Amino acid sequence: MNILLLGSGGREHALAWKLAQSPQTDYLFIAPGNAGTATVGTNVPIATTDFEALKNFVLTNEIGMVVVGPEDPLVLGIYDFFKNDTALKTIPVIGPSKTGAQLEGSKDFAKAFMMRHKIPTARYLSVTKANVSEGVNFLKRLTAPYVLKADGLAAGKGVLIINDLEEAIRELEAMLGGSFGKASETVVIEEFLSGIECSVFVLTDGTNYKILPEAKDYKRIGEGDTGLNTGGMGAVSPVPFADKAFMKQVEERIVIPTVEGLKAENIEYKGFIFAGLIKVDGEPVVIEYNCRMGDPETEVVMPRIQSDLVELLQGVAHGNLAEKDLKTDPRTVTTVMLVSGGYPGDYAKGKPITGLDKVKNSLIFHAGTAKKGNEIVTNGGRVIAVSSTGNTIQEALNQSFANTELIDFEGKYYRKDIGIEFRV
Ligand code: AMP
Ligand code: GLY
Repeated sequence: MNILLLGSGGREHALAWKLAQSPQTDYLFIAPGNAGTATVGTNVPIATTDFEALKNFVLTNEIGMVVVGPEDPLVLGIYDFFKNDTALKTIPVIGPSKTGAQLEGSKDFAKAFMMRHKIPTARYLSVTKANVSEGVNFLKRLTAPYVLKADGLAAGKGVLIINDLEEAIRELEAMLGGSFGKASETVVIEEFLSGIECSVFVLTDGTNYKILPEAKDYKRIGEGDTGLNTGGMGAVSPVPFADKAFMKQVEERIVIPTVEGLKAENIEYKGFIFAGLIKVDGEPVVIEYNCRMGDPETEVVMPRIQSDLVELLQGVAHGNLAEKDLKTDPRTVTTVMLVSGGYPGDYAKGKPITGLDKVKNSLIFHAGTAKKGNEIVTNGGRVIAVSSTGNTIQEALNQSFANTELIDFEGKYYRKDIGIEFRV
C-alpha cells in the first residue's frame, strides 16, 4: 500500500520512520515533510491544508491511506472532505471528523463534551462579549492564579496564566477584543490546577481503542521550566508517576468515557486522541484534548511501539482495532530537542547542521530542517530531536545528551534538565 503522511515536524519524521518499517508499506510520501522525512520516504511539496492538491496527488499516486500529523487539516475537515468526495471516499484518513477535531479546535466544545460525559476537568466558564460581566464575576470567585484560554487554535500560545486579578480582567477584555483574533472571540476561564502533567495517547477506530505509551514533555524554553512556552523541548516515556493504578483511573474515567461519548454523539473519530492530564491529589484530570499525536512526545512514543503501526492503523480504518496487537518496549525512551538560538522568539534559519553522521545509538528525528544543495540546514525553531532508549531513564538521557554534543549549528540550544525529576 502507498501511504501519504501529512506534516513536516519531528512528529512526522518519527511517524514516517515507523510507517516505513512496515512490510505493508510500498511507497511512503510525506507532504510537505522535511530533510529527515526525505530519508525514509519521498517528500511532496503540498501544504497540509491544500485539499484539492492533496486529492490530485492521492488519486494519481494510488494512495491507500492518509495519515494526518498536525491539527490544522483535521480542524479544517480533511476527514469529511475525503468522505464526501466520490473519488476519495474509500481511502481512509487517519484522524477525526471535523466535529471530532473540535475536541482540540474549540476549548469550549471540549469542556462541554467533558461535562456531558462526566470526564474530570477543571471548573470553567465560557465567556464572549455578551456575558463578560459574568466572566469577571467568575474570575472574582476563583483564587489566583487565573487561567484564560482562547477557545480556538492559537498555535499553542492561547493559554494565559495570570497571578493578578485586575490583570486577568484586563486580559480577558483584550482577548475578547481580538488579541488572538477570532480564536479568542470566546474565552474559557478555568480554575487553576496544581500538579504534575503527563500526556496520554489513544488510538481509536470509534469503538475500540488502544492506549499507547504515555509521555511527559517539557514545554518551557528555560531550565527548571522557566521562560516562554515552546512547542516542547524534550520528552520521556514511560512517565514514572503514571503507574498501573493511575493508568487504570485514566482508562476508566477518561479514555472509556471519551470514546463512548464520541460514539454516543455520533461523532466519527478514527485516529489519535491526545489527553493532556494533570495529576491532582493522585487522580487524573484533563487539561486539554488534542486530536493528533504530540510533538515531541511522538519522538519517544513511536520508538516504544514494537507492533506494526500500519497494521494498527488498518484496524483503525476498518473498525477492527480490537483484533490488532499492541506490543510496547518496556524500556525508557527520552528525547532532547535542539532548537535555534532565540526560539521561541525570533531566530535565524538556513544555518548548516553538522555532525549528524557522527551520532551513534540514538534516533535523530528532524523537526525543522531543510536540504540546501548537499547540506542540511536549520529551517525552524525546533530543529532536531535526539531520541534514545535505555534500561533506565538515566541511561537513555546519557545517550541523548552525548549525541546532542556531536550535532552542531550556529545558535544551538537545548535544555540539560529533561527528565531531571525522574533521574536517580
Ligand atoms: P493547554 O494548551 O490547554 O494544554 O495549556 C497549556 C499549559 O497551560 C498546560 O500544559 C498547563 O501547563 C497549563 N494549564 C492549562 N490549563 C491549566 C489549569 N486549569 N491549571 C493549571 N495549569 C493549566
Ligand atoms: N507537546 C504538546 C503538543 O504537541 O501539543
